[in-house]
Amino acid sequence: MIIKILGIYGSPRKGGNTDMLLDSFLAGCAEVGADVRRLYLRELDFGPCAGCEGCSATGECVMYDGMKGVYPLLADSVGIVLASPIFFYGVTAQAKAFIDRMQPLYVRKYVLGKKGLNPGKRKGFFISAGATGGERLFDGACLTMKYFYDALDAGYAGDILHRGVEGKGGVADVEGALNKAFEKGKWFAALA
Ligand SMILES: Cc1cc2nc3c(=O)[nH]c(=O)nc-3n(C[C@H](O)[C@H](O)[C@H](O)COP(=O)(O)O)c2cc1C
Repeated sequence: MIIKILGIYGSPRKGGNTDMLLDSFLAGCAEVGADVRRLYLRELDFGPCAGCEGCSATGECVMYDGMKGVYPLLADSVGIVLASPIFFYGVTAQAKAFIDRMQPLYVRKYVLGKKGLNPGKRKGFFISAGATGGERLFDGACLTMKYFYDALDAGYAGDILHRGVEGKGGVADVEGALNKAFEKGKWFAALA
């Protein structure tokens, strides 16, 4: 069976640190035979959740934008990996808006008691980088990611978190960082 893995690019900065890490990670997935798809949030035409409760009766989002094509893509992926830098101790606005659009899936699971996308089989992974070095730098983002993957019925398989990385492409100067991401991608594809 070919494993389908979706990589979600959450940084507004094209070719930046989390883009590079995710590129390497997905190259690792592909190396072991996974079918890799890529979603660039900076290019996706979508808005933030309106909080309208339009999904509360059906578990379907009533907003008509680029997300319409994304829900089936998520459902079809056994492995999902989201990359986002730390912006003010959380994920980027693009990534957070995307995560908030998982509310219909949350409703399906916890309000309507319907079956999720593919319970027990999907795996999630998080990639992040931040400029500073504080111990709790990734706490907020990791908590958000945990609940993102819960809504998707995906187990949180792990993360790659780089402190002290600021300038565009700086992660390439961190010894072994891109190679480790490649190897982790191979591991993730085998796990998923
Ligand atoms: C709006 C904004 C907010 C940021 N907030 C933080 C922060 O709270 N903590 C931190 O360590 N770095 C912060 N950074 C730095 C980025 O996380 C860092 O430059 C990262 O490597 C960017 O990743 P990218 O190249 O994938 O976009 C911020 C950068 C921007 C532009």
